[in-house]
Amino acid sequence: MRVFVTGASSGLGAEFARQYAAFDNELILLARRKERLEALRDELKDKCKNISIIAVDVTDFELLQKKIDAMTVPDLVILNAGVSLGHSGDIATIKEFKHLYDVNVLANHAILEILLPKLKAKRSAKIVFISSLSSLFTMPSAKVYASSKRALNAYAEGIRYKYAPYGIKVITLLPGFIKSELTDKNEFKMPFLLETEEGVKRMKNAIEKGKKFYAFPLRFYLIIHIINLLPSFLRQRIVNSTK
Ligand SMILES: NC(=O)c1ccc[n+]([C@@H]2O[C@H](COP(=O)([O-])OP(=O)(O)OC[C@H]3O[C@@H](n4cnc5c(N)ncnc54)[C@H](OP(=O)(O)O)[C@@H]3O)[C@@H](O)[C@H]2O)c1
Repeated sequence: MRVFVTGASSGLGAEFARQYAAFDNELILLARRKERLEALRDELKDKCKNISIIAVDVTDFELLQKKIDAMTVPDLVILNAGVSLGHSGDIATIKEFKHLYDVNVLANHAILEILLPKLKAKRSAKIVFISSLSSLFTMPSAKVYASSKRALNAYAEGIRYKYAPYGIKVITLLPGFIKSELTDKNEFKMPFLLETEEGVKRMKNAIEKGKKFYAFPLRFYLIIHIINLLPSFLRQRIVNSTK
């Protein structure tokens, strides 16, 4: 199987590479930090002979699309590259807001604009969107991030309906907190925090089972689900109590 992972230089993406590294798999790893990708390729070379690297900034849509067009067509696409603005709660500048949307939302479309016709012709592929539990309940401190992931959910849903007849399976994964460079910046106690290896193991399992939607850890997901059923004045109280 040929596996393409974006945001493979650290965190969940690097762990996806580790867990998909196998003799009969081929990996295509994308991120900006080339030296990190090369170090990962060295680390995995005994397990997986065929690892290629695409060092590109996904916000450079023109260059990104050229690289994607030149790439061999994958069987599994893991759209994982993402950024957050932290949880300071300050008003984001328009520049920060735009950058976050460019990485978390638009870059995925830039990739799929090129890949989808090829995947459609192949008539078999899986596309995985790495969303977040935060897309289901917007904490005010992470509103830009949460909104980008909610946009991603809606976009993924549309791609799922449109391309299902062509053998393309779309999988939306909504993790809670998992250890990574992104969460290392958080200064608060993260509920139900998972180790990177465990978090990615659960996501890989969901991909193998072909789940359309997988939100985890279950207890965290259920709490969010219950909060969403409450009247808005109670939800406001819960949000206030976390300040
Ligand atoms: N960790 C969690 O708790 C958690 C929870 C829910 C969802 N997620 C999502 O999981 C995904 C991975 O996050 P992570 O936690 O593993 O964070 P991370 O360790 O910071 O990894 C982010 C990855 O995205 C890449 N990236 C960022 N900006 C990029 C750009 N402009 N061009 C190309 N690549 C770029 C980074 O590579 P370079 O810097 O080398 O470019 C890095 O490989 C994100 O979509 C995040 O929103 C994470």
